[in-house]
Amino acid sequence: MTAEFTFTDVRLVDPAADRDEVTNVTVAGGIVTATDRSSAGLRIDCAGLVLAPGLVDLHVHLREPGREDAETVASGTAAAAMGGFTAVCPMANTDPVTDHAGVVEQVLRLAREAGHCEVFPVGAVTRGLAGEELAEMGAMAALGVRCFSDDGMPVRSAQVMRRALEYAKTWDAIICNHAEEPTLTGGAEMNEGQLSTLLGLAGWPREAEEIMIARDLLLAHGLNARLHVPHVSTAGSVALLRQAKLRGTRVTAEAAPHHFTLTEELVRTYDPVYRVNPPLRTRSDVEAVRAGLADGTLDAIATDHAPHPPEQKDQEWSQAPNGMLGLETALALTLTELVGDEDAGSVLSMKQAIAALSTNPARSRDIGGHGGPVEPGAPANLVLFDPAARWTVDDRALQSRSRNTPYAGMQLRGRVIHTLLRGRFTVRDGALAPRDAAEADRMQSRDAGEADGLQSRDAGEADGLQSLDAVEVTP
Ligand code: DOR
Repeated sequence: MTAEFTFTDVRLVDPAADRDEVTNVTVAGGIVTATDRSSAGLRIDCAGLVLAPGLVDLHVHLREPGREDAETVASGTAAAAMGGFTAVCPMANTDPVTDHAGVVEQVLRLAREAGHCEVFPVGAVTRGLAGEELAEMGAMAALGVRCFSDDGMPVRSAQVMRRALEYAKTWDAIICNHAEEPTLTGGAEMNEGQLSTLLGLAGWPREAEEIMIARDLLLAHGLNARLHVPHVSTAGSVALLRQAKLRGTRVTAEAAPHHFTLTEELVRTYDPVYRVNPPLRTRSDVEAVRAGLADGTLDAIATDHAPHPPEQKDQEWSQAPNGMLGLETALALTLTELVGDEDAGSVLSMKQAIAALSTNPARSRDIGGHGGPVEPGAPANLVLFDPAARWTVDDRALQSRSRNTPYAGMQLRGRVIHTLLRGRFTVRDGALAPRDAAEADRMQSRDAGEADGLQSRDAGEADGLQSLDAVEVTP
C-alpha cells in the first residue's frame, strides 16, 4: 500500500510552471498526481504556507571522505534536508580528492545509504587539485558527473583551463572555476581596502576575482563551452557577467547568502566565523550582488556550506580556515533579506527566490526531477515552509557536525516544515524524519547488487513511501 495525501489550500510557488497561486497538491506513489483543486487521501491543511520544488544547492562541502570530524555525507545531507534541499552538489576538495571515479562512487553510495537528499558530486578539474594534469573527467562523466571544479583552488593556468573547457564540452558538461587570481591574494585574510589597512590584515583585492572571471568568460566564449562562476562577491564581477550574458557566453553564476547579507565591517570583531573565501566585501558589493540576483545575472543562490570543526575554526583570525555553514539558514536568509515583506516591495519576488534556490540551479546543472515543474507525473521533490514563522538560529541545534555559522543568535523569518524526497518525508514537522528500517534494508541490498550511478534513483522509483503510512502528518 502506498500513501496518498493532499496539501490543501497551499500557496504553490513553481517558477518552472510560472505559477504562484493557492491550490491543492496531491502526492501518491512518490510522485505528484494532481495540482488542481481536487484532493485524495489524507488532507494536510496548509493555509498560509508555501509549497515549492525542493531546493537545489550547487555548492556544498560535505567533507567525506577525509574530514569526517567536520562533516559527513550523512550529516551534511541531513542539514540539507532541514534547510529544504532535495539535491546538493558536493565539491571535490575531499581527501582523497574527488578526481577519479572511485570517490564519486563512494559519495553516491554514502548519500543513498543516508537517504536525506540526492547528491550530484562535482568532479575535480585537475588531479589532486594541483592545477596541472586534468583529472579523470571521462570516467567521472560516465557516472553522471555534470560539473567539474577545483573549488577552493583556482585553475591558475589559462592553458589547463582552456583544455578543461574543451574536454568538458565533449559531454556538454560544465567547468566551475574558483575565481581567484592567486598572484594577487598571497597571504590575504580579508577584503582589500581601507578597513584591511586599518586592521592590519593582508587584503584580497576584488580584481583578483574579476580578472579570473574575465579570463574564464573569454575562454568559454571562444570555445562555446559551458562555464559556471561560483560565489560571486564583487560589483565588478556582476558587471562582467551581465556583459557576458548579453554577448551570448554560455555562463551561469551563483551568489552565497553571506555575500548578500554580511559585509567586511564584521571583520572588526576578529571573530574567525566571518573568515571566508572570497571574503566578505562592502555594502556596495552586497547591493550589486542583490541587484544581480534580481535581474537574473546571477542565476542561483548556492550556500558554499563549508563546515570546519571548532578546534580549527575557533583559532585566532590569521590561523582559522576559510568558510561558513549555509545549508540550514539559506532559505530563511533569502526570505528575510531578499523577499522580506512582500507587500512592501522586495529585492526578489517569492517566485524569483524559489527560481534562484531551486529551478535555476537544477536547470543550470541538468538535474532532472528537481526544480519543478510541480505537475502530475513529476517526482514529489518538494519543500513546504511557513514564510512568516520567526525563529532564532541556534548553532547547537544544527544537523551539521560543525558549528561555524555567522548567524547564531539571529532571528530569521521563514521556516521549513516538511521536505519530501520522491514523496518520502525527509523532514517532518521541522524535524529530521527517521528513515523506515525496511527501506534502509532495501537500499543496502540494492547497493550490494547494483553498480552505483547518479541515474540509479530515477523518476520511476517510489522511494520508501511506505514509511508514511505509519506516521501521522500535520503541517
Ligand atoms: O570559504 C571557503 N571555504 N571558500 C572556498 O572556496 C573553500 C571552502 C572550504 O572548502 O572550506
